[in-house]
Amino acid sequence: MQSALDPAGSEASAVATLFWVMVVGGGVIWLGVIGLMIYASRKSRSLMGEAGASKVIFFGGVAFPVVVLAGLLSYAVWLMPAMRPWFGGEGEGLRRIEVTGEQFWWRVRYLDASGKVIRESANEVRMPVGERVLFRLKASDVIHSFWIPSIGGKMDAIPGRINELQLMATKPGSYRGVCAEFCGTSHALMAFTVQAMPAAELDTWLAAAPAPAVSPTPGGPAPADPAPGLALFLRHGCAACHAIDGTEAEGRIGPDLTRFGQRPTIGAGTLPNTQENLVRFIRAPDQIKPNVRMPAYGMLPEDELAAIAEYLRGLE
Ligand code: CUA
Repeated sequence: MQSALDPAGSEASAVATLFWVMVVGGGVIWLGVIGLMIYASRKSRSLMGEAGASKVIFFGGVAFPVVVLAGLLSYAVWLMPAMRPWFGGEGEGLRRIEVTGEQFWWRVRYLDASGKVIRESANEVRMPVGERVLFRLKASDVIHSFWIPSIGGKMDAIPGRINELQLMATKPGSYRGVCAEFCGTSHALMAFTVQAMPAAELDTWLAAAPAPAVSPTPGGPAPADPAPGLALFLRHGCAACHAIDGTEAEGRIGPDLTRFGQRPTIGAGTLPNTQENLVRFIRAPDQIKPNVRMPAYGMLPEDELAAIAEYLRGLE
């Protein structure tokens, strides 16, 4: 899911090619040097004339490294445009996804042509296959770095500015993205999943309204499912930080939890999204993710924690 040597994007392919060329180049030189060493150690010790020694030093110590290093460097420079093929290129008309690094998770917003947010999500990026996507990278607190090893990236997300990165996935699948810049205690627990899918499938997902979350409206018609978890979620103040489309929860501090049930992980790639893990996370998030901003809810009774977790995992 997360190997830069198993590329599934144009940028990662160029990086993998360069890597293998350098490995082969370095490997051949290494074998040559080892061979020479063995040869030298076994050869009978006859003295070499001064002229012969100078020749060895000139060709082996000056000419050879200069030619080889210049060759490898030229190749790397020549490959550079392919590594970040659209760097500084026009991003007009491209699908735009705004990704904001937060301590310690990713806010993901899908934008329309005018820059309006169509959909907000967290720790999960869905991108089309075979189509360039313009990522607008932001940070809200400290510097993070956006990297999907299999597809490309590793570009800083810097507070106060927007960095633009164009990536193209070439193979459908599920990949892992990470934060590649130390950003605090839980920097290593700041991953996200990337789903590369056909564009039409992505459009369907973007256009589909989330399954109606049932909010018990006083005086309204009795809902089919009273969603006790939602009532508890609202009562305990979770909505101050989290938003769930179609409910009163509109908090913007923490991750948007709309369609939480579709996410494979919780805590930004920290644990698999299971009922047990989610209860653990709500009870004591800082034991799973040190320095996380979410307060612990260990004071809630077990059945309430379970109901909230069940409700969240049911959001599709
Ligand atoms: Cu965010 Cu490291």
